[in-house]
Amino acid sequence: MGFNQEAFIQLYRRRAKNYNFTANLYYLIGFREYAYRQMAVNELHLKPGQTVVEVGCGTGLNFSLLQREVGPTGKIIGIDLTDAMLEQAHQRVRKERWVNVELVQTDAAAYQFPQLINGILSTFAITLIPEYDRIIKHGAEALAQKGRFVILDIKRPDNLPYWLFRLGVIITKPFGVSVEMAERHPWEAMQKYFRATSHTKLFGGFAYLSVGEAQTQPRNFQKGHN
Ligand SMILES: C[S@@+](CC[C@H](N)C(=O)[O-])C[C@H]1O[C@@H](n2cnc3c(N)ncnc32)[C@H](O)[C@@H]1O
Repeated sequence: MGFNQEAFIQLYRRRAKNYNFTANLYYLIGFREYAYRQMAVNELHLKPGQTVVEVGCGTGLNFSLLQREVGPTGKIIGIDLTDAMLEQAHQRVRKERWVNVELVQTDAAAYQFPQLINGILSTFAITLIPEYDRIIKHGAEALAQKGRFVILDIKRPDNLPYWLFRLGVIITKPFGVSVEMAERHPWEAMQKYFRATSHTKLFGGFAYLSVGEAQTQPRNFQKGHN
């Protein structure tokens, strides 16, 4: 059974305080989470002074990597559904005395991206959201020319035996992963909404990095788009 939005919020409220520690446990199975985060941030091709939005930012584990790219004159906007995860992110921001981070509590599916942003990042979050296609579409429309949308996430590897797939779901269930998420393919939405994309398999195909680059000026929002 998958999780509805309220169940997600409850789950991440329970996880929030220990999230950073729990996320690190995946190192025990050789998942080089930090290196993958760094790869994702590198793919954004951000420059000092630019603005980046992180979708499903959680406790802000990527913020220091993003800060190194955009610097104090740039801006980081972190959006997340769960108050308790954002509270952890707030604590990080206060501790680091960053004044260029804005945190927004919202369902990413309902979020209106600011226009002409330079980058959008989502790590281990977008596949959890049933409306991922809409988010990628809206993100693609909001990016400035050469702006990049980068997704780092987990997936079901091709040709994976079903028992191993079920084991993968059990291991990641503490983060709300469910069997039906295997049917969600955000990298296909990236190909739909960006003319230039790249896709890199990581960790034996259990994870991937998907990059889309905006090549034209953003289109105006059309009335009635979904
Ligand atoms: C596995 S955590 C990943 C957090 C962070 N991106 C990271 O890499 O550590 C997934 C996050 O997605 C958030 N999330 C789930 N559904 C969401 C939605 N519809 N809109 C915005 N955030 C959502 C959860 O609250 C949680 O913080």
